[in-house]
Amino acid sequence: MENTVLVTGGAGFIGSNFILRWMESGPASVVNLDKLTYAGNLHNLASIADDKRYEFVHGDIADRVLLCSLLDRRKPRAVVHFAAESHVDRSIRGPEDFIRTNVDGTFALLEEVRAYWVGLEERKRGDFRFLHVSTDEVYGSLGPKDPPFSEVTPYAPNSPYAASKAASDHLVRAYHHTYGLPTLTTNCSNNYGRFQFPEKLIPLIILNALNGKPLPVYGDGQNVRDWLYVEDHCEAIATVLHRGQVGQTYNIGGWNEKRNIDIVETICHIVDEMAGNGGTARRSLITFVKDRPGHDRRYAMDAGKIERELGWRPRETFESAIRKTVQWYLDNEDWVRDVTSGSYRQWIETHYSS
Ligand code: NAD
Ligand code: TYD
Repeated sequence: MENTVLVTGGAGFIGSNFILRWMESGPASVVNLDKLTYAGNLHNLASIADDKRYEFVHGDIADRVLLCSLLDRRKPRAVVHFAAESHVDRSIRGPEDFIRTNVDGTFALLEEVRAYWVGLEERKRGDFRFLHVSTDEVYGSLGPKDPPFSEVTPYAPNSPYAASKAASDHLVRAYHHTYGLPTLTTNCSNNYGRFQFPEKLIPLIILNALNGKPLPVYGDGQNVRDWLYVEDHCEAIATVLHRGQVGQTYNIGGWNEKRNIDIVETICHIVDEMAGNGGTARRSLITFVKDRPGHDRRYAMDAGKIERELGWRPRETFESAIRKTVQWYLDNEDWVRDVTSGSYRQWIETHYSS
């Protein structure tokens, strides 16, 4: 047992970044349980595929028989739970998968983890951790002058995605409060970086800008998000896993609020500079499109608690990390080609056709 961590959803964007970083930083073993939906990509983990300390298990977090035997066989000392349906626009078009994975799946995982944890000897029970990775979207939308979200901001989720994550957060809270399961919850703002599936704003804009395609900006482009580089998020999760206080939640953010239109213009400028523009600035591709229904106006994070109590603060600035991110998409044409075939093209056609 001693050092195995079970990661769910480890073939996705943040999960794969987390696994690579975790395995680089110490001797621990990782078991990655992933269903490989459209968002899961084992190429992200090719560099560790043959590492003896790594095991991939193809499966669903809602499969309790599989979970039971996996926990029994690998005896992890922690579970880090990333697996989720994660895209707001998809949750608006089809919420059912979000309820199935984010709510029912998290419930199944909690039940099986609780049964496993109860059976551990006392010392191991005390050391065990269940870390649930969640989002700032559970807090709803802020007005322009409202203070940022803190850990005591009331939940007010507005999209089916946010509601399903809020439900999972509540279940995790209840499993600690009722059964004493040693849980930790992190709520993080919008991430960007390598391996992000190009349905989300930043990689979509990078790739469309590179390919001379329209750059779709919803509504008036004035919606505000807080943006955090994925490697900073992974470091924050590791910090909470090592030093977080059981039963607590921690907000993670980049202290970096930006309007969508400013993000898009910044990317245009960087792509022009890195790839050349043949005389036509890419900002001319910006196209304002119909707004997302129920589109939250502003998210902002107060990440003061994790800094005060655990000493974590983001290392990267937006200015440097967005350049690294654009460079990564320029340098990884094979990865991009692989994920932008088939079902990706279908999503783009359905979602942006009007
Ligand atoms: P992602 O969509 O890139 O990856 C999700 C992964 O989960 C995929 O590998 C997918 O195959 C897997 N998965 C989906 N359903 C599954 C199931 N039923 N069983 C097993 N595996 C399943 O997501 P992401 O952006 O890496 O987000 C990871 C977590 O972080 C999510 O819980 C998300 O809510 C949270 N989060 C994301 C962000 C962000 O900006 N991306 C910000 C804050 C929090
Ligand atoms: P997204 O990356 O989908 O993350 P989230 O909805 O979880 O914040 O979107 C980030 C912001 O960008 C959000 O305000 C919606 C907006 N957006 C666009 O303007 N155009 C797009 O094509 C997409 C995908 C998002």
